[in-house]
Amino acid sequence: MTSAAAGWDVHPEQFWLRGRRPAEPVVLDEERGVWNVYGYDEAVTALADPKTFSSAHVNDLFPVDVPAEASAGNLLDLDPPDHRKLRNLVTKGFSAKVVAGLEPRIAALTHELLDRVEGDALELVDDLAYPLPVIVIAELLGLPASDRELFRDWVDVLFAQNNEFSTTADKEKLEADLATQHEGLAPMTQYLREHAAQRRKDPRDDLISALVQAEVDGERLTDTELVNFTTVLLVAGHITTTMLLGNTALCLDAHPDQRARLREDRVGIPTAIEESLRFLTPFTTMARATTRAVVLGGREIPADQMVLLSLGAANRDHRRFADADRFDARRDPNPHLGFGRGIHFCVGAPLARLEGRIAIDILFDRFPALRVDPELPPTFLPAPIMTGVRTLHMRTA
Ligand code: HEM
Repeated sequence: MTSAAAGWDVHPEQFWLRGRRPAEPVVLDEERGVWNVYGYDEAVTALADPKTFSSAHVNDLFPVDVPAEASAGNLLDLDPPDHRKLRNLVTKGFSAKVVAGLEPRIAALTHELLDRVEGDALELVDDLAYPLPVIVIAELLGLPASDRELFRDWVDVLFAQNNEFSTTADKEKLEADLATQHEGLAPMTQYLREHAAQRRKDPRDDLISALVQAEVDGERLTDTELVNFTTVLLVAGHITTTMLLGNTALCLDAHPDQRARLREDRVGIPTAIEESLRFLTPFTTMARATTRAVVLGGREIPADQMVLLSLGAANRDHRRFADADRFDARRDPNPHLGFGRGIHFCVGAPLARLEGRIAIDILFDRFPALRVDPELPPTFLPAPIMTGVRTLHMRTA
């Protein structure tokens, strides 16, 4: 099903969404000084070997110095053994049991948000796909959901400059971009620090309270670690799920026969969501850095190289997925890499899957004639590392 995606305004670098295949599974981009990994097996090999393909080493390769404190407490930037210790602090908070218990709340919130829709049109991102995951993650953390517009501004700052990975970028420009980002995020840092300080004094039943009380090797997290840890949860906890909800609605709309079948047989919704994660992978690019020379996909990659794992392209690898460019809501098994693989596998996957299932089910219930507005085509987020609708105008009648 290349045709529908080919008509969408996705980022030009995401060639796999237009049915094009990479020349090789591993390709060196000399201009940017990065290795792109497009093949499925090659991406899986790299994700399984954090010793060689390090997350922590990525910051060392940027042309400008990234202060150590920027990464402290950021799960995504850590390697073993530090990674495991910190990750243990959150796995309980997102366990299958805790997440399953959220189902009634997520359903109630979905209805509440959709109750506000007036007339016979809605903009899915603003009306549901953005607010739902952000309210859920804010409530889990213990942040007032009413502050969600603030979170949105901060996330915009975070991704405004974070659009490209390069080891050869203009140093001055990068420094200026990082300074602007730092400045833009200062209010968020301050906001999260205040919440953490407040929970230290007066713990409640929320994730920030659990984190301020948690100990790693007998020591409490520092303020910086806490803020960075919370930032990852807050950001990863909503922007990606927003994309998942919008992308799934879009994929189903582009395949009315499959949507009709799913409406009749809702048990298939989770399988359809997995296919949406494969077909339009929200978080398309993971960065790693080599700690030694290694052969991957027949190419010898030296030590200290930036490696970009393209989960989006790997999920369209014809060597792994039959009819890879076709959206098949019943695809099973579907070993896609949409949530990553290995030690960094997404902590929030059960939560994202649950939110997706509930939202699609309720949209089906409430809007029997829901379809994308033919007059207002979807728009996509501009970052090359993401594939996700930014606006999705729909008609309910
Ligand atoms: C559809 C929604 C989501 C997608 C597509 C997604 C995708 C991913 C991917 C690809 C990774 C791996 C990163 C890497 O290997 O470097 C990851 C990690 C992570 N995700 Fe998600 N995510 C989603 C939802 C969530 C939610 C709801 C949370 C909630 C808290 C969350 C929290 C995290 C965290 C904390 C990590 C870091 C794990 C680690 O480094 O050990 N994600 N996610």
